[in-house]
Amino acid sequence: MKKTIRDIELKGKKAVCRVDFNVPQDKETGAITDDTRIRAAVPTIEYLLRNGAAVILMSHLGRPKDGPDMKYSLAPVAARLEEILGTPVRFISSPVVVDDAVRKAAKELKAGEVLLLENVRFVPEETKNGEAFAKELASLGDLFVNDAFGSAHRAHSSTAGIAAFLPAVSGFLMEKEVRFLGDAVENPERPFVAILGGAKIGDKIPVIENLLNKVDTLIVGGGMAFTFLKAKGYEIGKSLVDDEKIELAKELLAKAREKNVRFLLPVDVVMADEFANDSPSAVYDANAMDPNRMGLDIGPATIRLFRGALQEAKTVVWNGPMGVFEMDNFAKGTNKIAEALAESKAVTIIGGGDSAAAVKKAGLSDKMTHISTGGGASLEFLEGKGLPGVDCLMD
Ligand code: 3PG
Repeated sequence: MKKTIRDIELKGKKAVCRVDFNVPQDKETGAITDDTRIRAAVPTIEYLLRNGAAVILMSHLGRPKDGPDMKYSLAPVAARLEEILGTPVRFISSPVVVDDAVRKAAKELKAGEVLLLENVRFVPEETKNGEAFAKELASLGDLFVNDAFGSAHRAHSSTAGIAAFLPAVSGFLMEKEVRFLGDAVENPERPFVAILGGAKIGDKIPVIENLLNKVDTLIVGGGMAFTFLKAKGYEIGKSLVDDEKIELAKELLAKAREKNVRFLLPVDVVMADEFANDSPSAVYDANAMDPNRMGLDIGPATIRLFRGALQEAKTVVWNGPMGVFEMDNFAKGTNKIAEALAESKAVTIIGGGDSAAAVKKAGLSDKMTHISTGGGASLEFLEGKGLPGVDCLMD
């Protein structure tokens, strides 16, 4: 068990708190299009303030290359955070993140006040877990709070390196994410069903390998399903496939049989002429696909099959859409799975990224037990890997 902000004296302390304010923005205007991640950090920030701490927040935004780039400034985040908290947020936009003005502001910061630093990735050392930068960030306060679950799979100066120089504890979001994902994987109420989808099979192979040791049923949909269908000898037409992974897919199917894990693949698919929403399309049985068309969604018989497996489940983990859900004509499979989860009495855990976006788009977010704020981080967790941003905290 990692220590949390409940386990440490906060009164009169300056808490240097890593959050994940890497929010999506409108490409033209820079306006924040989804502030879920900002809101998710609020319980920790408010607890720190209520308990007599001053809060120094740090985050990355996007992936600026070669140092500072004002396109990735946290200025819009500071404004939104101020609105949400209803308390002033001091923001100092320094291209080096920590300069004399920041040091002075941190020193003078009083209990109950909030200071937000500029995008930590403006300093190239950050992503290299540079020790000097970690020390510099640590010098601003008395303790390190990590609430950035979305970045916990990164060993960077502000997510992990800093913990070498300050007492380090987790915030409430980090605690909640690790508890929900950890319980689901290590201590699930059974039957335990995992649904994996998305385009790239390469990203999901380590997850499948790990989950085959844990689940009762594994459901695979989305673009990655076609590599498995090809491995089973089916014609898949022009559907997405990773030919280099066919042998591995065969091995995973064999491993599932060995371990008595039910491995469900699509039994029918929606195929279209082109990768476009308005492309003519039709439903084909999985063993009779059109060689000239591409599969873009699961079909109605597959939806029934997957929903049946979900009805029996007591724990469900979902990561990755069932089809090209960004295109309305190929979003049905993903939406129906989201509905099945919303109706289910099981503990439902949604990995971050696309599946979280799909659930949100379907208006079903409040029907799920837990929606992770971390895409990459939840995936690495499901792979069974340790997360540097968690491992560095005090036991
Ligand atoms: C995410 O959006 O998954 C996290 O904020 C991590 O961002 P990164 O992939 O740029 O490290």
